[in-house]
Amino acid sequence: MSSKPQASPAKTAGAPSGAPAGKPKLDISILKRIIRAFLKSYPKLIPLVIFCIIFSAVAASLPALFTQNIVSIIEKWYITRDWEGAKAEILPKIILLVGMYGLSILSSLAYTQIGAYITQGFLCKMRCAMFDKMQDLPLNFFDRKKHGDIMSVYTNDIDTLRQLVSQAIPTLLQAGVVVTAVLFIMLYFSLWLTLVVVAGVLAILFVSGKIGGGSAKFFVRQQASLGRAEGYIQEMMNGQRVIKVFNHEEQSQKGFDEVNNALYNDSFKAHAFANSLGPIIFNIGNLLYVLVSVVGGILLLSQAKNVSLSGMAFSVSIIVPFLGMTKQFTGNVNQVAQQFNSLIMGMAGAGRVFALLDREPEVDDGYVTLVNAVIDENGNITESEKRTGRWAWKHPHGDGTITYTELKGDVLLEDVDFSYIEGKQVLYDISVFAKPGQKVAFVGATGAGKTTITNLLNRFYDISDGKIRYDGINIKKIRKADLRRSLGIVLQETNLFTGTVMDNIRYGRLDATDEECIAAAKMAGADSFITRLPKGYSTELTNNGSNLSQGQRQLIAIARAAVADPPVMILDEATSSIDTRTEAMVQAGMDKLMENRTVFVIAHRLSTVMNSDVIMVLDHGRIIERGSHSDLIAAKGTYYRLYTGSFDAD
Ligand SMILES: Nc1ncnc2c1ncn2[C@@H]1O[C@H](COP(=O)(O)OP(=O)(O)OP(=O)(O)O)[C@@H](O)[C@H]1O
Ligand SMILES: [Mg+2]
Repeated sequence: MSSKPQASPAKTAGAPSGAPAGKPKLDISILKRIIRAFLKSYPKLIPLVIFCIIFSAVAASLPALFTQNIVSIIEKWYITRDWEGAKAEILPKIILLVGMYGLSILSSLAYTQIGAYITQGFLCKMRCAMFDKMQDLPLNFFDRKKHGDIMSVYTNDIDTLRQLVSQAIPTLLQAGVVVTAVLFIMLYFSLWLTLVVVAGVLAILFVSGKIGGGSAKFFVRQQASLGRAEGYIQEMMNGQRVIKVFNHEEQSQKGFDEVNNALYNDSFKAHAFANSLGPIIFNIGNLLYVLVSVVGGILLLSQAKNVSLSGMAFSVSIIVPFLGMTKQFTGNVNQVAQQFNSLIMGMAGAGRVFALLDREPEVDDGYVTLVNAVIDENGNITESEKRTGRWAWKHPHGDGTITYTELKGDVLLEDVDFSYIEGKQVLYDISVFAKPGQKVAFVGATGAGKTTITNLLNRFYDISDGKIRYDGINIKKIRKADLRRSLGIVLQETNLFTGTVMDNIRYGRLDATDEECIAAAKMAGADSFITRLPKGYSTELTNNGSNLSQGQRQLIAIARAAVADPPVMILDEATSSIDTRTEAMVQAGMDKLMENRTVFVIAHRLSTVMNSDVIMVLDHGRIIERGSHSDLIAAKGTYYRLYTGSFDAD
């Protein structure tokens, strides 16, 4: 995170990237993909839900037919006054009508319940797929993307997807079925009245298209503003200490006001537009209702010839259900119009979810794996199931044979060039030769490229040119997980996870026993402070271990790397916040652990690197000096100046 809380919020915290600007579009290919993914998530239950939706929609449309029947029976009774006959006719119709409504309610209930289960399940699966994908992405994805953006995909964008699959799509389906069914029933009764309704509905669609399009634009913007506000809050929360140190509360507030007002503006416009849609459609619907009554009345009085699918004569028994259907028709069209925003927002959100899912994963074409090995006195290697404390590279060849090479920690970099961003080279012609058991140190100014070299050894990034060999094997052939398992790394930035101290140490090797974790902590010099914590090894750590001191966090990180008992260890500024006495203790422990194993150390404190077998001095991405401490002192070059300079500073 940047430590510049005063910077403009637009720059510090991110809008969900790729938020479409301007007029939102209905991207049918995204909609298709959502529907496909949704159908695939519950292939059996979704057809059942669709059936229930269609059934309840049809069941809700049919009563108009019965109403017409019932009204015509009452009309007949009015003329003939044959109550018994009318009763015998009307009762079964009423029972059928009630039955229809009952079934409609039951199927609605079924689809809402199963619907909740499958939509939440679908979202759960999507989040899972996203997280799974995220774990496979190369580090440069996280370097370039604002973390607030990625968070926003999990929260805001998934929420728009929820609205889409739980509300918009079912509503569209249901309303579509009702509108089609009602349209046919209307045509069955009267062509002229149907034409009046269709004309009214076209007017509704026109208005809602205008207003809906306007509000959708602001809903998409609101979504982007929300992401920006969230990112800003997150950043300010992380930067609380820096904000207080520099008295930047006011600027931080100003920055927040800016993003908050943008959010307010977009949300206000989106909702103002959207809220006006309902009343407008409602009133057009009322007008239509009146129009249908008037036109129906005129048709009735003028004895006009009724044109319909049924050829039924025009009568009150047609006008009554027709008025009901008009309400139903406009009500459903209104519902569809209301879903327009969810549809647009859902597709924008889904676009970002799919963009994450479509990211190229980190390529790993390594086929050389790391196995536990038993090595006899003649040097013959056999693979073992159990942990033997020795390892071998298992190298399958094209001809089907397998060879084993002992893992020794022989690391060779040959003329390595590297750049994080194309065109901005960071490392030039780096050659390092580390024999097993050697301690190799990198020193040099800030930004010289020390951490970058270690990032290449574990293949966080791939080199642009040159070669890296590990026990004689090109590291590109080694499966990444195995390569990283063979390297114990204490990163420059300490990261502890929520959990106990013991959990955090065990992170190094999940099958390590409590005793092994405690032994590693003792070796790392962490045991003495851990046992003094309120709950010792069971003390809960939160917020990256904010209840510990910086040095204590580093000691836990060292213990975590040590419990993995790796053949090669990389320590990047691992002891930078630890006092010299504790450091000497850590070193003694490490030296014992690292006997016959290779260690790379990066340190600004020269006392840490003095006893290394070879020291590389880096300057602007090049190795400018190499040799032992005494060689380099004697050479009176950069190292000499750094070293004596550090004495001066002390
Ligand atoms: N993820 C990254 N993306 C782009 N450039 C980077 C990245 N990480 C580091 N750099 C650049 O690479 C150069 C070397 O950085 P590196 O982290 O290796 O320095 P360092 O020697 O470890 O410094 P320090 O002593 O401060 O830890 C720097 O100029 C830095 O700006
Ligand atoms: Mg560094």
